[in-house]
Amino acid sequence: MKVYLDNSATSWPKPPSVISAITGYLNDYGASPGRSGHSFAIKAAREIFETRELIAVLFNAPDSERVIFSANATHAINIALKGLLKQGDHVIISHMEHNSVYRPLKYLENKGLIELTVIPCNEKGETDTRLISGSIKANTRLVVMIHGSNASGTVMPVAGIGEICRLKNILFMVDAAQTAGFIPIDIQKDNIDILAFTGHKKLYGPPGIGGLCIKDNILIETLIHGGTGSKSEMADHPAFYPDRLEAGTLNTVGVLGLKAGVQFILGKGIGSIRNQQLQLTEYLVVQLNNIDGIRIYGPGLSNERLPLVSFNIGRIPPSDIAFILDRDFGIMSRAGIHCTPLAHQAMGSFPRGTVRLSLGCFNTQQEIDYVAEALKKIISEKNFNI
Ligand SMILES: Cc1ncc(COP(=O)(O)O)c(C=O)c1O
Repeated sequence: MKVYLDNSATSWPKPPSVISAITGYLNDYGASPGRSGHSFAIKAAREIFETRELIAVLFNAPDSERVIFSANATHAINIALKGLLKQGDHVIISHMEHNSVYRPLKYLENKGLIELTVIPCNEKGETDTRLISGSIKANTRLVVMIHGSNASGTVMPVAGIGEICRLKNILFMVDAAQTAGFIPIDIQKDNIDILAFTGHKKLYGPPGIGGLCIKDNILIETLIHGGTGSKSEMADHPAFYPDRLEAGTLNTVGVLGLKAGVQFILGKGIGSIRNQQLQLTEYLVVQLNNIDGIRIYGPGLSNERLPLVSFNIGRIPPSDIAFILDRDFGIMSRAGIHCTPLAHQAMGSFPRGTVRLSLGCFNTQQEIDYVAEALKKIISEKNFNI
C-alpha cells in the first residue's frame, strides 16, 4: 500500500483534468503563446489570458492584467520584494515565515538596504496583531505575512493585519502558498496589496507555476528584462503589466495545468474541500493523540487551521520516523525543518524539526487508520527509547 501524505510540499495525485489539459496542449497546439500570429499561438495566448481571468476571480483581484505568472511562490516573492523595497525601508514579518520570505529579506538586510523586524509567535504559531501595530515606525513600508504555516498549520489573521496596514498606509503582502485553494482569499476585502501564490499545492496544478496578484497603484521594478512579444522595436522593457514582470516564454504547460487545477477546486467548492480535509485532519489529530509518546505541535483542533499535522515521538529523530514510515509501510511524509527554521523556533521543535503528515483532496479515513496503526507498531516494535 502507498499512502501519500506530503501534500503541503506538493499535492498528489493531480486531477485527471489537469493531466489532460497539459497533454492536450502538448499534443494539439503546443505553440509559444502570442509570439507568432498563427492559430496555435493565438489559442495558447487565449488560454493564458483565461487563466489570468480565473485567478483574478479566485482572489477577487481588481485587474487580471496584474496577475503575474512566475515559476513558483519563491520566485514570485523574490520578484515582489526585490522589485519593491528601497534603501532605508523597514519591513515587518512574523516568526512563522517560510525561507522564501525570510531569506530574501535577510539578504536585503545584510546588504544594508532594509531594516527587518520579526514579530514573535507562541508555541501554537499564533501572533498578536498588537505586536505588529507596536513595531510600525516612520520608515515601515511593508508587512509580509504567511497566510497559513506549513510547519504548524496555523492560519494567520490576515484580514486584521490588512486593516492595520490600510490605516497606517503600509503595504501588505501575503504568502498564500499553503492557503490558495483551501481558504477563500479576497484581496480587496482583506486589504492585501500583493498576494503570492503557488500552483502545485492546493491549486492542484503541476510544479513550476506560481504568481502574484498586485493591486493597481503598486509599481514593482522589472528585475528580468527580455522578450515579451510586445513593443519589440523598443530597447526598453515594456512598463505595463503583466509584461513588466514576465520576460521570456511563459511556462504554458504550467499555466494550463493551473487553469485546470483551479477549475477542479472551484467545481468541488473550496468550502467542501476544506470541510472534508479538516474533518480528516481532526480524525488524524484524535488518532495520534491516543498514541502514547506522540507530541503534536500547532493549533490543535480548530476550524482555522491547515490540513497538516506536525509531531514528534520522544527523542527519535523525525527523519528516522519518516524513513521507517516509507520503507516499512509505504507512507510518505516529510521530516525536518520544512524550510522554516523560524517556525520551529517558535514551536519549540528547533533544530530537529518535526514529522509532518499533510492531507490533500484524495486522502481517506482508511489511510489515516493505517498511519495510526503504523505509528503504534513503530513505537512498540522498534523499542525506541522515548
Ligand atoms: C508557506 C510557504 N511559502 C512559500 C513556499 C514556497 O513555495 P514554492 O515551492 O512554490 O516556491 C512554500 C512551499 O513549501 C510554503 O509552504
